[in-house]
Amino acid sequence: MSIPIVLDCDPGHDDAIALLLALASPEVELLGVTTVHGNQTLEKTTENALRVLELVGRSDVPVAPGADRPLLRDLRVAAHVHGESGLDGPELPAATAGPVDEPAIDFIAGRIRAGTVLVAVGPLTNIALYLEAHGTENIERIVLMGGAIAEGNMTPAAEFNIWADPEAAQRVFHCGRPVTMIGLDVTHKALLTHEWAERFRATGRIGTFVAELVDFFKRYHAHTYGWDGAPIHDAVALAHAIRPSLVRTEHRNVEIEVESELCRGRTVVDLWRRTERPPNADVGVDIDGDAFFELLLERVASL
Ligand code: RIB
Ligand code: CA
Repeated sequence: MSIPIVLDCDPGHDDAIALLLALASPEVELLGVTTVHGNQTLEKTTENALRVLELVGRSDVPVAPGADRPLLRDLRVAAHVHGESGLDGPELPAATAGPVDEPAIDFIAGRIRAGTVLVAVGPLTNIALYLEAHGTENIERIVLMGGAIAEGNMTPAAEFNIWADPEAAQRVFHCGRPVTMIGLDVTHKALLTHEWAERFRATGRIGTFVAELVDFFKRYHAHTYGWDGAPIHDAVALAHAIRPSLVRTEHRNVEIEVESELCRGRTVVDLWRRTERPPNADVGVDIDGDAFFELLLERVASL
């Protein structure tokens, strides 16, 4: 029984790999892709999604552009991580297919059905706007890549997706439907290292594309953390949606800091239940990194 999934993303190197995993996984019925501002402008994230779909001959998958800026905050892209195109590194031909002529939230409303899982791997603006316009009917779960229990990558306090639109994140974490938070504490435990990249390269054309994406993506991580390899954040979220055993989660309260500038976008996770705040999310705390990469390798090799 396949899982109906909408992938909301801001490609972005790891978004692109998450999209490839979705396309290659029989457990997934990909209802469509919605794009959002984030790693780059909406125009570039949309073009990147179209290019990746075309690369694997899947231009049949509809792409619906969403929000080009956060609900309240100024737009801020992550060119320092993903480059000017948002997908710097490998040569990727321009898309010949275009997006659908329907905004993301209308697109989701028209295709969502009972059991749909929204996998959100960029800033949560589209998801917040969708919830505001259409409510939570038919949303089985929201699996999001974002936040952290104890880390920050955009600031010492906050992870980029949540930092970019904290008001949107606040709405999502309080929407009343099951939310899974795949944060940096988990994704930073699984790095696609040089050894893994060579295994991907050996699988063929798409595996080589993944390795070339990581060749670029790991530069930021080598410079920032001294790592040999890159966390494939968004693919972890998608992988968890199809194989929950990969990531161990704890049901905890998560609040989003929206007042403080110093801690803007902090996901305050009550891991040790120090408060009476009711749990509202399943928070990732650990990952079976080898099992994750074996799954990703097997699926990418099939494309
Ligand atoms: O902080 C990592 C997240 O921000 C990932 O989703 C990456 O693609 C960027 O959007
Ligand atoms: Ca992303």
